Amino acid sequence: MSKKYTIAVIPGDGIGPEVTSAAVEVLQAACAQRDIEIEINELTAGGAAIDKFGIPLPQETIDKAKASDAVLLGAVGGPKWDNVEPEKRPEKALLGLRQGLGLYANIRPAVVYSELMDASPLKKPGNIDLVIVRELTGGIYFGKNGVYQSGDKLPDGTTKGKIAFDTESYSEGEINRILKIAFELSMKRRKKLTLVDKANVLVSSRLWRNLASQMSFDYPEVELECLYVDNCAMQLISRPSSFDVIVTSNIFGDILSDEAGQIVGSVGMLPSASIGAPRTPGMFEPIHGSAPDLAGRDVANPLASILSAAMMMRTMFGEEEVAASIELAVKKALATGARTSDITFIGEGEHITPIGTRAMTKTVIENL
Ligand code: IPM
Ligand code: MG
Repeated sequence: MSKKYTIAVIPGDGIGPEVTSAAVEVLQAACAQRDIEIEINELTAGGAAIDKFGIPLPQETIDKAKASDAVLLGAVGGPKWDNVEPEKRPEKALLGLRQGLGLYANIRPAVVYSELMDASPLKKPGNIDLVIVRELTGGIYFGKNGVYQSGDKLPDGTTKGKIAFDTESYSEGEINRILKIAFELSMKRRKKLTLVDKANVLVSSRLWRNLASQMSFDYPEVELECLYVDNCAMQLISRPSSFDVIVTSNIFGDILSDEAGQIVGSVGMLPSASIGAPRTPGMFEPIHGSAPDLAGRDVANPLASILSAAMMMRTMFGEEEVAASIELAVKKALATGARTSDITFIGEGEHITPIGTRAMTKTVIENL
């Protein structure tokens, strides 16, 4: 074998194990065709780690993830762990991995497949092909937070009833590095960048806007548009195909990427890449969650996870051929009419009979 990549696979919870094993199968098959060896190192995180070790993110998982070439993650969380103390929630594993690996840029492409036009809830989705560039290790997710019990003395000396707070805070450095990723990506695409913020209300958003306007001088070919997040949520519905690259904060990116996922038909189709500094392993995962109600029933859509593996091959290793072959196989599988239950709608109240996770995976492999 000429080349070898070591991939840390973190199946996680709910449908995570099913969709990651589908992605690994497809990846192995696509790489074997090109004499590339893939070594899989399975790691535990999320609810699975709480059950096994009592904590959501064991140090061993972080260390081994750091030592790998890339990380493929399923999903974490589920009702089983809803009542564990906040610091031990399964989601902490995801946030800890993002922070631990320094994965500050989250790339979430949303593309409508021509085969799935009817699965979109929009009457005329058009040719949607956008990418959300979400800041991933800052903002309200990682800002100062806390609780004042009723009667506690507040910093201003007063006392009130119980108060809980989270803080949205961004440094110039944090904003500039994600803006740079977004401008560079825009240059490779349609050269249209939308900054999404809430600059009419939030001070931190105004810093984003100032820095984006400054940086746009370095990219004169890129048309920069600034939108308030509420307005953007609306325009994603009214003119989705006019968006190219969207850059935004952690929390706004979280919300808008679910919206983008739905307008292209199903969040079950959307892959994502989380990347950090050069030469650190990136993490690749479907944007959908653990979908506990679907878990273990062989009904989940594995395509987002499979497409995440393709993104990994392209983004981390420059293996364009492998990535393109996987993406083409997904397209061909859809063209043969293969549909998991989330994407069966074909218009006029008509549905295709769904197939399961395993059958979909097999169809993709046959089309490689
Ligand atoms: C996502 C998820 C996570 C987030 C959760 C599970 C912590 O919604 O990746 O979009 O909010 O970032
Ligand atoms: Mg989310």
